[in-house]
Amino acid sequence: MAVAYVVVFMLIISSSSSSLSKSASGCYESIISFGDSLADTGNLLLLSPSDKLPLSARPPYGETFFHHPTGRCSDGRLVIDFIAESLGLPLVQPYMGGEDADAGGRSFGKGVNFAVAGATALDYAYLEKRGIHNSLTNVSLGTQLDWFKQFLMKLPDNLCVFGSDNTDRRNFFRSSLILVGEIGGNDINYPLNQGINKEVAQSFAPTIVNKIGLTIEELIKLGVETMLVPGNFPIGCFPIYLTQYKTSNKEEYDSETGCLNWLNEISEYYNKLLQEELSRIRELHPNVTIIYADYYNAALRFYLSPSEFGFTKGILRACCGAGGPYNFNISAMCGILPASSCDDPSSFASWDGIHFTEAAYRVITQGLLEGEYTTPHIRTVCPSMSRHPGRYEY
Ligand SMILES: *[C@@H]1O[C@H](CO)[C@@H](O)[C@H](O)[C@H]1NC(C)=O
Ligand SMILES: *[C@@H]1O[C@H](CO)[C@@H](O)[C@H](O)[C@H]1NC(C)=O
Ligand SMILES: *[C@@H]1O[C@H](CO)[C@@H](O)[C@H](O)[C@H]1NC(C)=O
Repeated sequence: MAVAYVVVFMLIISSSSSSLSKSASGCYESIISFGDSLADTGNLLLLSPSDKLPLSARPPYGETFFHHPTGRCSDGRLVIDFIAESLGLPLVQPYMGGEDADAGGRSFGKGVNFAVAGATALDYAYLEKRGIHNSLTNVSLGTQLDWFKQFLMKLPDNLCVFGSDNTDRRNFFRSSLILVGEIGGNDINYPLNQGINKEVAQSFAPTIVNKIGLTIEELIKLGVETMLVPGNFPIGCFPIYLTQYKTSNKEEYDSETGCLNWLNEISEYYNKLLQEELSRIRELHPNVTIIYADYYNAALRFYLSPSEFGFTKGILRACCGAGGPYNFNISAMCGILPASSCDDPSSFASWDGIHFTEAAYRVITQGLLEGEYTTPHIRTVCPSMSRHPGRYEY
């Protein structure tokens, strides 16, 4: 234990000294993001034909912060939005929105978001072949990586300022924080939603993690230097699963939180594999910084003591829903009548039974940036990461 501690300490020292070369002000001048609905700031909406818009395109999505739906699967800001704010950067624009910097509008110079709600880590066709259907999108992590490569080929245009040689690309990457995920959660959600048994769902975990690892290695080849890679949440606490797998067998529930143990165990298993994969890649690429974001434990805190975080109206109930013990009904999800929003979303952790409220995402981000839920700690890589603490008042 003592030896491990020393090694960790040395890693922190070495990563913090390498961070001195990073841009002094906010450490990062841009954010590049891959992922699913936990990070999508509008891509699925922009990809969808007008007669087949996602639920996140309808009120009450977006009601708290933006006061209109933006395609974010929440009432307000997501983790990626709070991270951007903490770096003093604008909210990260969805790639599908295109760039419109000439008109003084959208620019990718400060970041670009490839995340698409519903996206999986594994390819659409791979899952389809195994009987797992994705009715939301055929976009996977591989598609997002292809988009990123197209983006890089047009880098000088996309950034409006740079020339076309590799020095500019290097400088761009050196000052960029790359968010790889959360991605992979849907690869387990879909089999579970589609009634495929839990052993089969869980058996996808090594393949998913392998895919994420290969993607990270490809990003490193492209020149990426700093990545933040989140794990999965305690999905056994989600109203969708508490409703779908409701049981009279009390032993299936955690006595402290009321969450379903077996589902949380799938997340724990998956997160363990992901962390092992990240350690493996770190050893191969000592010059690259790979930060693990422990979404699981950052969220578990508020299931353990909800009132401490202001979640006073029933931690396992969704804010927006159409009734039932967890206020979740698959036939009347948030955005479909008769579902309606609660009066005070900030007193709920779950927004729609599947995704968190802005209030919960704020607590989770605060746990990453100021708490103990990043490894190596993001503060050792970027000391000014929580320079705007006022954003996190709660
Ligand atoms: C996904 O669907 C779009 C539109 O339906 C299609 O143009 C595209 O080729 C598909 N991509 C993949 C990877 O299947
Ligand atoms: C890693 O960083 C060191 C020190 O900055 C440098 O000398 C070396 O060339 C780098 N290695 C790679 C593979 O980039
Ligand atoms: C779920 O919603 C549907 C459609 O509104 C309704 O018919 C059904 O009774 C609801 N189920 C429960 C358990 O409330």
